[in-house]
Amino acid sequence: MAKDSIIKIRNVSFTYPDTTSPAINNISFDIKRGSWTSIIGHNGSGKSTIIRLINGLLVPDNKNSPYIEVDGTELTDKTVWNIRDKVGIVFQNPDNQFVGATVADDVAFGLENRGVPRSKMLKIVPEAIKAVGMDDYTNAEPSNLSGGQKQRVAIAGILAIQPKIIILDEATSMLDPSGRSKILQIVHQMKKKDNLTVVFITHDIDEANLADQIIVMNNGGLVDQGNTKEIFSKVKLLKSLGLDVPFASQVKEKLLQSGISIPKEINSEKELINYLCQSNSKK
Ligand SMILES: Nc1ncnc2c1ncn2[C@@H]1O[C@H](COP(=O)(O)OP(=O)(O)OP(=O)(O)O)[C@@H](O)[C@H]1O
Ligand SMILES: [Mg+2]
Repeated sequence: MAKDSIIKIRNVSFTYPDTTSPAINNISFDIKRGSWTSIIGHNGSGKSTIIRLINGLLVPDNKNSPYIEVDGTELTDKTVWNIRDKVGIVFQNPDNQFVGATVADDVAFGLENRGVPRSKMLKIVPEAIKAVGMDDYTNAEPSNLSGGQKQRVAIAGILAIQPKIIILDEATSMLDPSGRSKILQIVHQMKKKDNLTVVFITHDIDEANLADQIIVMNNGGLVDQGNTKEIFSKVKLLKSLGLDVPFASQVKEKLLQSGISIPKEINSEKELINYLCQSNSKK
C-alpha cells in the first residue's frame, strides 16, 4: 500500500478578515494516503479553519510562501474544483450544508455535480441513505430533521460520492452511541476497501484513539503530532491544553506518581488490567 502523503501543508497561516491575530499560525504537516488522522484541540484552536484551507474555502495569508497540496496537486485557483472533488467534508454544522428539498435530493446533489449517470445514482443514493439508517426519511425535508439526523444525512452525502479523502468535523457529535459506532464502522469499511484517507476532528477521546496519527492544535498552532501511544502518554501536555486523556493513560500516570512504572507498550484499558492482574499474581 502506498504510504505517500495525500495532504501536504507547509507554512500556512490564516487571519480572518477584521481580526488581528491569526486563527492559523504557520502550520506544516503531512497526512499519509490511506491513514486515519485525528485532529484534537480545544474550542477555537483552529481545527475547522485548517479544514477550510485544505479544500480552498479559505485562502492562506500571503506570508512565508504557504503551500497546500492534495493528492499530488498544488491547491491553486485553477485546481480548487478538482481538489474539492477528491475531498468530502462533513462540516461541523450540517445546517449550512443542505441544498436539496428532500433527503434523497440532498444526497444525490454531489453525484449530480460530478456528472454521475442517473441509473447509477438511483442505486447509490438509497444505499448511502440506508447505510446511515435514514431510509425512513428519504422524502423528508432536511430542515425538519433533528441535529443527529441531519448529521447522518450529511454523512450519507459524502459516502455517496466516495471521495479519496473524507474529513469529518465533529460530524458525529450529535449522534447517539449506536449511530456513532455504526458510522465509524462504515468509515472503517470504506477505508479498508478503497484505501480512503480519513481526517477526524473530535473532542471524543475514544474516537481520537482510533487514529493512526493524532495532530494536537492550540491557539492556531500545531503543538504535537504522533501516534496514539505517543500522544496519549503525554498526560501533562494534554491536561495543560485542557484536553481529555484516555482513562488508561490517567491510571498509568497516577501509578507512576506512586512509584509503580508501567511499560510503555501497555496502553489500552484491557492491556493495563491484564498487566496489573499478571504482576499481582506473580507476587
Ligand atoms: N468567520 C470567522 N470570522 C472571524 N473569526 C473566526 C471565524 N471563524 C472562526 N474564527 C476564529 O478563528 C479561531 C479558530 O476557529 P475554529 O473554528 O477554526 O476553531 P475550532 O478549533 O474548530 O473550534 P471548535 O472546537 O469550537 O469547533 C477562533 O479564535 C475563532 O474565534
Ligand atoms: Mg470547529
